[in-house]
Amino acid sequence: MLYRKFGKTNEKVSALGFGCMRFPIIDGKSNQINEEEAIKQIRYAIDNGVNYIDTAYPYHEGMSEIVTGKALKDGYREKVFLATKLPSWLIKSREDMDKYLNEQLKKLDTEYIDFYLVHTLTKNLWSSLKEHDIFDFLDTIVKDGRVKHVGFSFHDELPLFKEIVDAYNWEFCQIQYNFMDENYQAGKEGLKYASDKGLGVAIMEPLRGGSLAGNVPDDIQEVWNKADTKRTPAEWALKFLWNQPEVSVVLSGMNDMNHINENIKTANDTHENSLTQKEEELIDEAKNIYLNRMVVNCTDCKYCMPCPAGVNIPRNFEVLNGASMYNNVEHFKWIYNNFVGGKEKALNCVECGKCEKACPQHIKIIDNLKRTTELFE
Ligand SMILES: NC(=O)c1ccc[n+]([C@@H]2O[C@H](COP(=O)([O-])OP(=O)(O)OC[C@H]3O[C@@H](n4cnc5c(N)ncnc54)[C@H](OP(=O)(O)O)[C@@H]3O)[C@@H](O)[C@H]2O)c1
Repeated sequence: MLYRKFGKTNEKVSALGFGCMRFPIIDGKSNQINEEEAIKQIRYAIDNGVNYIDTAYPYHEGMSEIVTGKALKDGYREKVFLATKLPSWLIKSREDMDKYLNEQLKKLDTEYIDFYLVHTLTKNLWSSLKEHDIFDFLDTIVKDGRVKHVGFSFHDELPLFKEIVDAYNWEFCQIQYNFMDENYQAGKEGLKYASDKGLGVAIMEPLRGGSLAGNVPDDIQEVWNKADTKRTPAEWALKFLWNQPEVSVVLSGMNDMNHINENIKTANDTHENSLTQKEEELIDEAKNIYLNRMVVNCTDCKYCMPCPAGVNIPRNFEVLNGASMYNNVEHFKWIYNNFVGGKEKALNCVECGKCEKACPQHIKIIDNLKRTTELFE
């Protein structure tokens, strides 16, 4: 395994980290983890050099931390850095922060967390946490030893990312990043910004939740087939990340031994700045083909917003585009049902047309919202 310095923490983390959000489950039930299998997989990864284990309060409906704690028995806890996250959306007071951290320590059956993140920061959560004195909490938990290093994970836009990076002496952060998301959320600019300020950067969704590796469209596969060195789509996506010196650890939510072996092998093989220009061009070509598969040319400028009926127009188009770009209607139907708010869904469109007048791309918004409803509802 190759190891990288994790920003100001000065710890050496494995290039590949184990994400505990996608454990093998029984009967399709997210809270029924196949414990035996999950524990075997985590320990196998650790035995092969992985030293960063990433879980969080809500994963597997609260069960991920418990199973992760069990996996780290028998001497495994001492071999790894354990990361978990404050469930920021549940925080209603300063006391809540201590309450959840103490509960997490119990669930993980550990005396301390190596890397504690404020989970999934967005504009609203950030302002609410500041009101509840988050900085005092972060200072306290490092001082009293419950946590070694503090950071945050992020799901909003670049200006807010920079604001948060500059607001506290964070040691690391976690961002969504892959070759399709260079200009999405924190993106490449955010990666460089955080790294320049000395933060270690953990990457989540390196395969866009698996979309860049499964159901790969034929036109994309043809691009990968042109390479001199044959690699799987997952290898290309991971190599894109490890090629970048600003990336510290790439987290993958693995639940299949073949994937674990493949990702460990790719991590072992990939040094910083090791892709050739020709290989980088191939990745760009694949990216452009994915972008051409978009059905709605929405740039997320938000000129169409706010919608009088409450529909989140860009969000609906993002999910509609995802289904077509990544050749996976089922997955994006699940995202639509679980991550697009009730009021925000396309079916609430009242066809007033206010949005179409404002759209600089002249998108037929009403028709495309109907299309979204037909596909997902
Ligand atoms: N802080 C946050 O807000 C946040 C949000 C998201 C994730 N995370 C963390 O980041 C971790 C990584 O994100 P992620 O799980 O979305 O990572 P990901 O690597 O983008 O997606 C994981 C999925 O990719 C597929 N996969 C992995 N390796 C593969 C391979 N070699 N070949 C083919 N398919 C492969 C598997 O899909 P199939 O199971 O379909 O085969 C796997 O479930 C999570 O587990 C979690 O710990 C944090």
